[in-house]
Amino acid sequence: MGTRRARVSVIYFISKLNEWDALLMEKIKNSAKAEIKKAAHSLMDGYLVAFPTETVYGLGADAANEKAVSRIYDVKGRPANHPLIVHISSINKLEKWAVDVPEYAIKLAKEFWPGPLTLILNRNKIAKDFITGGQDKVGLRVPNQITALLLLQEFEKLGGLGVAAPSANKFGAVSPTCAEAVIDELGGVMDSKDLILDGGKCEIGIESTIVDCTQEHPRILRPGWVTKNMIEESSDKKVSPRLETEQIRVPGQLEKHYKPKARIQLGFPNEVNVGFIALSNFKTPDSVIRLASPKDSHSYASELYAAFRLGDAQGLSKIFVIAPEGDGIAVAIRDRLVRCVTY
Ligand code: TXA
Ligand code: MG
Repeated sequence: MGTRRARVSVIYFISKLNEWDALLMEKIKNSAKAEIKKAAHSLMDGYLVAFPTETVYGLGADAANEKAVSRIYDVKGRPANHPLIVHISSINKLEKWAVDVPEYAIKLAKEFWPGPLTLILNRNKIAKDFITGGQDKVGLRVPNQITALLLLQEFEKLGGLGVAAPSANKFGAVSPTCAEAVIDELGGVMDSKDLILDGGKCEIGIESTIVDCTQEHPRILRPGWVTKNMIEESSDKKVSPRLETEQIRVPGQLEKHYKPKARIQLGFPNEVNVGFIALSNFKTPDSVIRLASPKDSHSYASELYAAFRLGDAQGLSKIFVIAPEGDGIAVAIRDRLVRCVTY
């Protein structure tokens, strides 16, 4: 309630205007930039700013301000000892937050930043316990989204070091992939001085790949758009398997996570009046509500969370989902689906 909503989605349309509109274009650009500057000041003043990234929307706070960061936990209803990803504007800021960065991690950052990859590294002094959940490691990412990058640059111009941002949803719920979903999730609990930046729909639609780079070999803690093959190719290192006795806590990897209100069941629907999500080559049975029919795995990732929300908005009690097969981003989609299945 009362959350001011800064519309910066206009910057997406700039490229579509022709030369006749040059003046208008300049005006739009300036107003979008002004909104982003205002948001950077809000962060500096200790308020929260929800912003778009290419993966999902994040709920940002000044990563060096303990009080501001504690509000993230209040608003999300998240346990306070969970670590947060620090978002930075470029690889040049990496060593402010991390020490003893292995060469292979630098290779990964150079290859995939800005992009949907979070690196877990040994923390530098400014990464306090309230960011790392008391661990010696910090998660860092440079997002590949124009509004996010401009926000981070403006924030750093004001002396900011990084923006801590979990996905902008209630703890355990589905990550938002558009500004409307952020408002649905958190609008009611955000302060009137907090902001939500609207950058349109997130291109990728599921959360970043998280790679632990604190050992001899990289380890994938959460699969995403950046795949195991891509990591091995760019780092010249074999990815080591995740240990059962995992020491690093990754709440996104809790068994029950990313859950809509509806019960999720894997497979073809065997009931009527239920929701259905599957690739477009699967036909919709009679009296079943089709929530998404993406043409490939990438569209599947970008449509999945919105489809969950649509099912919830329609008050469906059950959604049947056929997971995409194969490698690539399909691995990450199956990872998320397994976590939200209700048995
Ligand atoms: O795509 C994304 O990563 C999005 C956007 C907003 O950047 N963020 C996101 O944040 O998904 P969150 O908090 O919902 O999930 C981040 C995951 C959590 O499971 C957290 O435990 C893990 O990253 N993480 C963060 N810092 C960590 C650390 N120091 N050690 C281990 N895991 C960490
Ligand atoms: Mg999350």
